[in-house]
Amino acid sequence: MRRFFSNNRVVIVTLLVVIVLPCIVSMDQMPSLKDAYKGDFLIGVSMDYGQIFGKPAEDVKLIKEQFDAISPENVLKWAPVNPKPGVYRFGPADRYVQFGLENHMFILGHNLVWHKQVPDWVFENSEGKPVSRDTLLMRMKRHIDKLVGRYKGRINGWDVLNEGVNEDGSLRDDKWMQIIGPDYFAKAFEYAHAADPTAQLYYNDFNLTNPSKREGVIRLVKKLKKEGVPIDGIGMQGHWHLYSPTIKQIEASIEDYAKLGVKVMITEMDISVLPNPPHPDNPPSSIRHSKNPKYNPYVTGLPDSMKQALANRYAALFKLFLKHRDVISRVTFWGLNNKQSWKNNWPIVGRTDYPLLFNRKNQPTEAFYKVIEVGQKSR
Ligand code: GLA
Repeated sequence: MRRFFSNNRVVIVTLLVVIVLPCIVSMDQMPSLKDAYKGDFLIGVSMDYGQIFGKPAEDVKLIKEQFDAISPENVLKWAPVNPKPGVYRFGPADRYVQFGLENHMFILGHNLVWHKQVPDWVFENSEGKPVSRDTLLMRMKRHIDKLVGRYKGRINGWDVLNEGVNEDGSLRDDKWMQIIGPDYFAKAFEYAHAADPTAQLYYNDFNLTNPSKREGVIRLVKKLKKEGVPIDGIGMQGHWHLYSPTIKQIEASIEDYAKLGVKVMITEMDISVLPNPPHPDNPPSSIRHSKNPKYNPYVTGLPDSMKQALANRYAALFKLFLKHRDVISRVTFWGLNNKQSWKNNWPIVGRTDYPLLFNRKNQPTEAFYKVIEVGQKSR
């Protein structure tokens, strides 16, 4: 072994200088998203279970360097926290909050009331029949008290309600609506405010640039504000595509929501570059299309022209966000890198997508540098 090193010393040193050193230097010199937008808005990232527990270490290092806000991908949702009556599992959520505190980050709670990832028992009695309105209200209050109360003064903002409005603007006919009725929205915000009066409280949803859905959310928020319900912001999930929605549609939505007197956040941002069949969110079609190369064209890499198109799309979006920095308080990415992104498996399973600013090896992409450039130029 020793002989090997002494015989090859020159080769080894050359390799170190030519390959390893530049990597270390360039990593250290990488500008940060949070610095590029300091004073404009927070830049957030969602953390998965492994990252919350420190793995992989490179992810965690990058998260600390680049972001000043965090969202939990799953650990604060109803099912993982309270899977069975009386059973609470706070370990992962406690770690998540601790990570945010140690790194002086804005900590989001996601989410309190949603129609997904909530166990059936919440809505049922011991015979499996729907519970009464009063029982469900009591369970909702207990859940909110437990979570918001536990992290009082530490979780800075909560997605109180996630995805309660349909595409046509009507209220989603889920179990919350069926059992409690439309005032469940107001009740959720009131309970959350009572549990921590200092936490910011948000309504969060996707497709909020769709005009009919936008009208529905505006009607809802206007009604809540008129009734004196404490709502501080609207989270526009940014699960968007290369060419849709248009910058105009996004701008019109930001302006309309801001007129309600609430903050606007771009939450859950990722820009998919993959083509989709019509109605892709229908599960049989999702599986049927998974092997069709037409819907998975970039398995071995993204062509330069697409890299440019994605970088330009990101640049246009961040220019728009900067223009509205007076009402936008946070822009959060849904995932750290392209490997982690849920877009590889939705709406079609098993594809290779490129929606985020870091590639599968955590290296910054063209889009990353464009976003940095837009932020730095604005100073
Ligand atoms: C929605 C939810 C998120 C997450 C994504 C998919 O947008 O708000 O919590 O589940 O779907 O990853």
